[in-house]
Amino acid sequence: MAKYIVEHSGPLYGEVEISGAKNAALPILAATVLTDGICEINEVPRLKDIDVMCRILRSLGAKVEEDWEEHTITVDGSGIHISEVPYDLVKLMRASIFVMGPLLARLGKATIAQPGGCAIGDRPINLHAKGLRALGGRILISDDMVYANADSLTGALVYLDFPSVGATENIMMAAAVAKGTTIIENAAEEPEIVDLASFLNRMGAKIKGAGTDTIRIEGVEKLHGTRHAVIPDRIETGTFMVAAAITRGNVLIKNCLPDHVRPVIAKLIECGAVIQDELEGMRVRGDINKLVATDIKTLPYPGFPTDMQAPFMALLTTVSGSSTVIETVFENRFMHTAELSKMGANIRVEGKNAYVPGDKCPLEGTQVVSTDLRAGAALVLAGLVAKGTTEVSQIHHVERGYENFVEKMSGLGAKIRKVED
Ligand code: EPZ
Repeated sequence: MAKYIVEHSGPLYGEVEISGAKNAALPILAATVLTDGICEINEVPRLKDIDVMCRILRSLGAKVEEDWEEHTITVDGSGIHISEVPYDLVKLMRASIFVMGPLLARLGKATIAQPGGCAIGDRPINLHAKGLRALGGRILISDDMVYANADSLTGALVYLDFPSVGATENIMMAAAVAKGTTIIENAAEEPEIVDLASFLNRMGAKIKGAGTDTIRIEGVEKLHGTRHAVIPDRIETGTFMVAAAITRGNVLIKNCLPDHVRPVIAKLIECGAVIQDELEGMRVRGDINKLVATDIKTLPYPGFPTDMQAPFMALLTTVSGSSTVIETVFENRFMHTAELSKMGANIRVEGKNAYVPGDKCPLEGTQVVSTDLRAGAALVLAGLVAKGTTEVSQIHHVERGYENFVEKMSGLGAKIRKVED
């Protein structure tokens, strides 16, 4: 297995270009199942998860062309006729579940493996099923498989007990071509939901309210092909913002949408980082003030993103003073604390709370394990400011979510290289 070798790197300087958002591109690619037309998706990040989604679309009968010079994927959905998603592909990537709603709407049937849990939690799909059942779907969930079918789909009122991103997306895609109106209450408000809704509306859907907690979808007969450019990745943006802060550097982040990272901006400013809007992007400086502690509580958007919890925690181990981090979205998203503690961070976890003593700069370089993609990024950030060398293993997690991670980090002066074990 490959690993990253990260040396103490000093302040990062320069500029970095943010790629398209993985968590927008995946549901948008799944939504191409809804039409027999041709869809051209631009600004797609070249990631393993995107490759898996392309393989899934091909297995359903779609023609998928990838042009990585242009970061463009073109999907011709006219040949889609298979409703069974290959088991091995679903087990590779949880987000495969995003094709369930579109398949049910397009073919009236979907057979897909339970995506199953992962390191950060059980990841149930009960809210996905609740919404699709409300639309008229018959959803049978066995221990390892999901069988869905429907004669037709009819609009309904769906209340989400938790503002699940994936459930909101699956329901919105199926409702786009259901008969009548669907209202999703307590919907997720993430920017990726807004991006999916704008893609669907370009296909001819009638969706209003995406980005708020109430989404209104007026079903239409048919959706047509279209072209769409995916929004920049707000979690990659946040990760590089923290990289600038933790190394006390000065980095210009290009092709980002500051509006999508307001909580990360607010928390970095509380720590003493300086953030300036410039013509070409957002400049993050950790080299002006002494950085101090702050507390973090993760919440569904527009709260502090759970995906930024681990990277931000790495920063908090190096600032002056102690911080408290509360994780409210996933039940087991503190595995990185044990790895950071191997580096001398001495973090105490009690249930949803992690107590992070500061002033641990420099941390001690050592061998650590990446337990999920954001934890892996956090360990690399910690390695940049640790004494000596830090070896991060299981980095396939990281490469699922960060395009050209080593090249982009190295371009800012990070001493990081990838080695095969
Ligand atoms: C999406 O996952 C993202 N993945 C995650 O990013 C992100 O952390 C998460 O949203 C929260 O923002 C993609 O978009 C591909 P949820 P998703 O459904 O849709 C519970 C990354 O790092 N829940 O909002 O699976 C669930 O257990 C990944 O890129 C139910 O109880 O997240 C969790 O506790 C990691 N029943 C909470 O909701 C359901 O039916 C949030 O899950 C669905 C979810």
